[in-house]
Amino acid sequence: MENLKIGKHNIKRTAGLAPMASVADKAYRYMCKKYGASLVVGEMASAKGLCYSDRKTAELLECTANEYPMAIQLFGSEPEFMAKACKIAEKYEPQFIDINMGCPVQKVVSTGAGSALLKTPELACDIVKACVNATDIPITVKIRRGFDNNNINAVEMACMLEEAGASAIAVHGRTRQQMYTPGVDIDIIKKVKEAVKVPVFGNGDVFDPISAKKMYDYTNCDLVLVARGSYGRPWIFEEIETYLEQGVILPEKSLDEKLDIMLEHISLICEFKGERIAMREARKHAAWYLKGMHNAAKFRNLCASLEKYEDIKNLVLEVKKYN
Ligand SMILES: Cc1cc2nc3c(=O)[nH]c(=O)nc-3n(C[C@H](O)[C@H](O)[C@H](O)COP(=O)(O)O)c2cc1C
Repeated sequence: MENLKIGKHNIKRTAGLAPMASVADKAYRYMCKKYGASLVVGEMASAKGLCYSDRKTAELLECTANEYPMAIQLFGSEPEFMAKACKIAEKYEPQFIDINMGCPVQKVVSTGAGSALLKTPELACDIVKACVNATDIPITVKIRRGFDNNNINAVEMACMLEEAGASAIAVHGRTRQQMYTPGVDIDIIKKVKEAVKVPVFGNGDVFDPISAKKMYDYTNCDLVLVARGSYGRPWIFEEIETYLEQGVILPEKSLDEKLDIMLEHISLICEFKGERIAMREARKHAAWYLKGMHNAAKFRNLCASLEKYEDIKNLVLEVKKYN
């Protein structure tokens, strides 16, 4: 498949990492990139927080060359703040700036941001226009199928956002109301793709190479984005790439390989965040890596008490003993 071009950047049409707040941090993105993600998106950052110089918000924007191509994701409901935030984001040198129009969290929605923008398409377009005017970095937008079942408007939104200057549209095929059931509506992604000229990213329920191929074949989307399918398996991107390019399903990684990758991931979190914070955050990642192994339930409990990097090394020894 030919590469996808957005602005001056080429993106391989394999699979990219979707944004995940509190999960897809720098270490996570680095691991996904290492194992083949063709694009990574950062954790959503508040435009207002950036404008008010909040240090924690600014940290979310940090990106390193080994994550490229990368999008920084911003959320907000005021065009002026969003434009200012784009200027601030420029300093971090991302290849793209993505605007979050899909977040379902009440704290975000109640401010008119995230998926609430699906109910105010004109404001959503004003935001895109303000961001496009503020920076030369391509602005992309991530939307959902609609706000709720009475307001399924992804196609209309995508057309308006394209007109406003968005360089690509990512579509998560669910409404704000739907959490993760029922399954994703890939028809809506297909319809958005038919309606706009800018690239469309298909997102939702891609957990393996077969579902990635189905997303491409059925919707004709330009890029597939994977979120939860990368939990504890950053190599899913390599699996998808190999299947799409060679029609080959890679064999499952060995236990030793999986454990080595987990240790590398957790040591990176320690490097970026310091051991104390890192080991708290590592608990969920370790549990995801160990899922499906013999005695997984017992190991999951042990994950919950990880305090030091040494603890995860000891846990690996235990896992090897019982597997
Ligand atoms: C823990 C978690 C955090 C998320 N954070 C964000 C976010 O910051 N911005 C965003 O646009 N979507 C966010 N999402 C939504 C995902 O990007 C994606 O649209 C959704 O999980 C569906 O994809 P999947 O079926 O591959 O998981 C998040 C999802 C999860 C599970």
